[in-house]
Amino acid sequence: MRKKVLVMAGDGIGPEVCREAEKVLKAAAAKAGLELTLEEALVGGAALDATGHPLPEESLVKAKGVDGVLLGAVGGPKWDRQPMDLRPEKGLLALREGLELFANLRPARIYGGMTDASTLKPEVVEDTDLMVVRELTGGIYFGQPRGMGHTDRGREAYNTMRYNEQEIERIARIGFDIAGKRKKRLLSVDKANVLEVSALWREVVTELAPQYPDIQLEHMYVDNAAMQLIRAPKMIDTLVTSNLFGDILSDAAAMLTGSIGMLPSASLGKTHALYEPVHGSAPNIAGLDLANPLAAILSAAMMFRYTFDLPRVDEAINRAVQTVLAEYRTADIAAPGKTTVGCIHMGDLVVQALDKAG
Ligand code: IPM
Ligand code: MG
Repeated sequence: MRKKVLVMAGDGIGPEVCREAEKVLKAAAAKAGLELTLEEALVGGAALDATGHPLPEESLVKAKGVDGVLLGAVGGPKWDRQPMDLRPEKGLLALREGLELFANLRPARIYGGMTDASTLKPEVVEDTDLMVVRELTGGIYFGQPRGMGHTDRGREAYNTMRYNEQEIERIARIGFDIAGKRKKRLLSVDKANVLEVSALWREVVTELAPQYPDIQLEHMYVDNAAMQLIRAPKMIDTLVTSNLFGDILSDAAAMLTGSIGMLPSASLGKTHALYEPVHGSAPNIAGLDLANPLAAILSAAMMFRYTFDLPRVDEAINRAVQTVLAEYRTADIAAPGKTTVGCIHMGDLVVQALDKAG
C-alpha cells in the first residue's frame, strides 16, 4: 500500500512536534508495510511571512492531492495585529473549509498512571475515556452575515450562528456511528433553551435516534455539559456538538488528561482528512525542545485508523505511548519519580517502544 501525507507544520511548536510525529509515522508505516511519501506545505504565520497569505493556493492544492494532512499549529503574537482575514488562524479555517472537513474527532483519555498529571482529583479523572465529536465547517465560525461596523452608538460587531438540517444530520450521524463503536452512549450538547439554532439541532438529532436503536441518546445544555465534564467525566462516552461549543468543551476535556499537550484530533470529510494536535502554537516555549509531542504523535496514530484503515497501528502507537509514560514525561506532565525529557527525546522514546513491541 502506498500513501501520501502532507505535513503542514505551521508556527511556534508546530514544526518541532510535527518532526516527532513524522518519526513515529515513518516507523509505524515501515512496520505495517505501508509505503509513505511525505511532502510539506506552508500554513499560518509561516505562510503569511513567505507569501502574504495564511493558506496559499498552492498549499490547498497540495492538501487536496494527498491521503492525509498532518498539521502542527498556527498563530503567535507576531501576527496578532493582523486584520481578521489575514490572521494565521484563518489559514487553518480555510483549510477545514476547503477540504470540507466537517467532522472533528477529539478523544480525551487518561493513560494509566497519568491521573497525577490532572489538576482534578485522581478519583474524578481516572478511567476517563471520552470522544468529542465537533462540527467543524459550520455554525458561528462560518455563518454569514458577519462583520464589524459603526452605528450611532459606536462600533458594533456581529456574527451569525446558523445550521441547516443537512449539516446537523451529517455530524449527528458521525456521532451515532462513533458511539456505536464505543459504549453506545451519545450526548448531544446544545443551548436549546435559548437559541433557535440549538432547538433545530436537538430536533434533528432526536429525529435520527430511531435509526440507531442500540444507541442511548441524551441531550444536555452546554453550560451543564461543561459542569458535568469537570464533575463526572466518566459519565460521558461520546459527545456531539456544534463548532463553537466543541471548541470550548474540547479544551476543557483536554485538561482532564493533565495537559492539552496530550490531546490529538482528526478532522474528517467525505474525501479528505487532516490530523492535528488540539493544542496551539505555544510561542513561549517554541524552539526550546520543551513541547510535548504526544498530541501530534497520537494525531498521526489516528491517521492510521481513519485514513489508512489500520486501527491496529493506532492501538500499537497508543500502547507505545502508554509504555513510555510509565517512566518518562515532558515538562507539562512532569511527575515525581518520572524522568522529565524534551520533545525530541520523547519522540525517540515512542519510536523505540514501538520497535521493541515487535
Ligand atoms: C482549535 C483551535 C482553532 C479553533 C483556532 C486556532 C482557529 O482553537 O482547533 O480548537 O477555534 O477551531
Ligand atoms: Mg480550540
